[in-house]
Amino acid sequence: MRWFFLILAIAVVATVYALGPRGEKFSDPPFELFPDMDHQYRVNYQKPSDFFEDGQASREPVAGTVPLGFTFPHEGNNDDLSTPLDFSRGDSYADTGLFGDFYGSGYPETLKVDEEFLARGEQRYQITCTPCHGESGNGVGVVSKYWAIPPTANLIDARVSAMPEGQIFWTITHGKGLMGPYNGVLSVNDRWAVVAYVKALQAAAGN
Ligand code: HEC
Repeated sequence: MRWFFLILAIAVVATVYALGPRGEKFSDPPFELFPDMDHQYRVNYQKPSDFFEDGQASREPVAGTVPLGFTFPHEGNNDDLSTPLDFSRGDSYADTGLFGDFYGSGYPETLKVDEEFLARGEQRYQITCTPCHGESGNGVGVVSKYWAIPPTANLIDARVSAMPEGQIFWTITHGKGLMGPYNGVLSVNDRWAVVAYVKALQAAAGN
């Protein structure tokens, strides 16, 4: 019996060794013992497909959804959104948060920072930022329950409160450390609205 297991083990190792390696130069495609997910069904642009009922591979956007990173051909065609959906623009202060190499203070002149703007910022903040930074901005979002180290930043402490608006805009746009960029999720104007809301949270916390 001992020999049986030994021979079985050698046979298994030999089979895996013979069939498993990839990346060698073969003239024939190698036999794949472990294909992982290398080959998957996919559709080609502008090609027919019998997978969908209408026979087309290319799909229309799902009704009522907004594709990420997409600028509408004409702005303001979405009545329920107070700011135009514009995700990346030029290199002015309004688009970068920078004056030359420095973070700028204040809001771009093109934006009216009023109650409606703040309300928009609050709504976007609650959707985008609360999971990590918490509703009050104190850095204790739901994520902190599961992912305590390294902690997310406390946005209402003196350090972040001292940051100029442009720096917070820049952080939202490009991310920092473990925080990813949110420029594909928040339009340029929405990012400023979130900045205004973060500043309001800081003021509410007395900073
Ligand atoms: C997935 C979790 C996550 C989300 C969502 C998130 N952040 Fe962060 N954020 C972090 C982490 C982690 C840090 C600390 C980064 C570091 O210092 O390395 C951070 C840091 C920051 C800082 C401080 C940057 C600095 O220079 O110290 C600001 C400001 C900030 N976030 C704003 C936001 C805003 C506004 C949103 C929503 C648009 C947001 N974050 C969404 C995880 C997140």
